Amino acid sequence: MSLRPPALPLSTNAPLLKWVDKMAALTRPAAIHWVDGSAAEYDALCAQLVATGTFTKLNEKLWPGCFLARSDPGDVARVEDRTFICSLSKDNAGPTNNWVNPFEMRKKLKEVFTGCMAGRTMYVLPFSMGPVGSPMAQLGVQLTDSPYVVVNTRIMARIGLPVLREIDRGEKRVVPCLHSVGAPLAAGAKDVPWPCNPDKYIVHFPESREIWSYGSGYGGNALLGKKCFALRIASNLARDEGWLAEHMLILGVENPKGEKTYVAAAFPSACGKTNFAMMIPPAHFAAQGWKIWTVGDDIAWLKPDAAGRLRAINPEAGFFGVAPGTSVKTNPNAMASLARHTIFTNVALTPDGGVWWEGMTDTPPAECVDWQGRKWTPALAKETGAKAAHPNSRFTAPAAQCPTIDPDWENPAGVPISAIIFGGRRATTMPLVYQAFNWSAGVYAGATMGSEMTAAAAGTIGQVRRDPMAMLPFCGYHMGDYFRHWISMQKKLTETPRIFHVNWFRKGADGKFLWPGFSENMRVLQWIVARARGRALGQETPIGWVPHHEDLDWAGLDFPREQFTQLQAVDRAAWQKEVLGHEELFIALHDHLPKEMVYERELLICRL
Ligand code: OXD
Ligand code: MN
Repeated sequence: MSLRPPALPLSTNAPLLKWVDKMAALTRPAAIHWVDGSAAEYDALCAQLVATGTFTKLNEKLWPGCFLARSDPGDVARVEDRTFICSLSKDNAGPTNNWVNPFEMRKKLKEVFTGCMAGRTMYVLPFSMGPVGSPMAQLGVQLTDSPYVVVNTRIMARIGLPVLREIDRGEKRVVPCLHSVGAPLAAGAKDVPWPCNPDKYIVHFPESREIWSYGSGYGGNALLGKKCFALRIASNLARDEGWLAEHMLILGVENPKGEKTYVAAAFPSACGKTNFAMMIPPAHFAAQGWKIWTVGDDIAWLKPDAAGRLRAINPEAGFFGVAPGTSVKTNPNAMASLARHTIFTNVALTPDGGVWWEGMTDTPPAECVDWQGRKWTPALAKETGAKAAHPNSRFTAPAAQCPTIDPDWENPAGVPISAIIFGGRRATTMPLVYQAFNWSAGVYAGATMGSEMTAAAAGTIGQVRRDPMAMLPFCGYHMGDYFRHWISMQKKLTETPRIFHVNWFRKGADGKFLWPGFSENMRVLQWIVARARGRALGQETPIGWVPHHEDLDWAGLDFPREQFTQLQAVDRAAWQKEVLGHEELFIALHDHLPKEMVYERELLICRL
């Protein structure tokens, strides 16, 4: 299994070599392994993870090349309250981020990282967010003591030798990322399957572009290229360099003439970005030749090109999707993507060596092993409410395996974006779709976006949590400055994408969803694309342009006109209340709020 002397540096970049030495001196690993990114190395690491009990190899016939990991029950999701933006000034982080004085934080980090990799191997994991060599790509090196992180990152990003060659050229700044599960191993001690530490620190230093993560091996806490780099640090890079790093999916809509229009859409976490990005149009549309192509499901980097057109890349190479609710009915393309060479985390294990999660099939297996390794049966679930899979259980699947992956998904120049869609989860007030009057009204719609809280404490159910541009946990600087940056982007563009707001979750008086969602969202998307190309009619309302009933293609769906009217209703009283809610957010951000946001609010009030 030995591949080569693991300590052999695979780079000639002097600052990188020096940093690796310095961090090794701090964390004191037993060995250093430079990751080359090869298939042989991946296979060897997966075999090692099986041997140490972190991975269970799934039935090769049913789930070729797939593994299951079960995390520690205390390490199952991103920890927003332990996530810090340590800018020099508190003002720079703003009221929506946790800030700690960087000098204090460095002292604390030095303390917890000292000797934290004892008994473990430190992997030197070079990665590129975006296709290697793309002018829009960014480089990082993650030092990690988690082989689980290495194999997941091989799916989620481009890693290894090609990235080191880029780093050796020395033309691009490299973001240093230090990660430890925070569980040093004493000599001869037996390891646990999922080492981690109850004390967690997910820390960003925006000025020096550094990430330090301690104590967690899970998801966005540990796969540092994703939320930490591609959103929190990248949002800082983007502000300074004149582009946008966004929590957005990217998809292409192909019409029957073969003409493709790309859109980017921001919905908060777990609001259906993956489903929307991989949507299969209803039969009537498919028969006509309408197709949806997937570029990305979570993050978009958008940059004006030389001609002033906004172009986007997906900086990731895989999907880290929420498993529960994913099925051949809700998202057949996701199911095809995760059918092989996928790493599952915290889903259930079936007796035949397969995986299962709530919502995967209508009928649950008669018995399985739940995400904590205990016996689970439907009867037990009925009695105790126990879930077989953790609600935040995930699949890590290669994007290239998605049947609808866009032929241009790795185009180093990105794809041209014609429309931007914002959307939250709102039971009331927000219509199915509206188009903002112009760029700054669109920025306002994104900035004031929100979702009703679901599993909330008494008294807060239905309360709207503002999640501007779905970036609340991911914007690495002051949210007010972030709005200003969005406003300023218009000047860099010769052709501004049209901005829309959607809400798939409006409910009627009976508490039932008014809109079927999923594939039927194609009808809305078709109107959006037509509007973006100046080809569809709409009617003016106080909040923006909306479709008439006859502006949407209803073939194959029996959707009464009255229900559409209800779904699209702009209730002035509800909107007046809504605008008061916007004010709360604006007060929190007031000293950095661009004046355009205040004007847009005034205009909206006047129109109402
Ligand atoms: C998220 C995710 O939490 O994509 O937004 O994992
Ligand atoms: Mn996300």
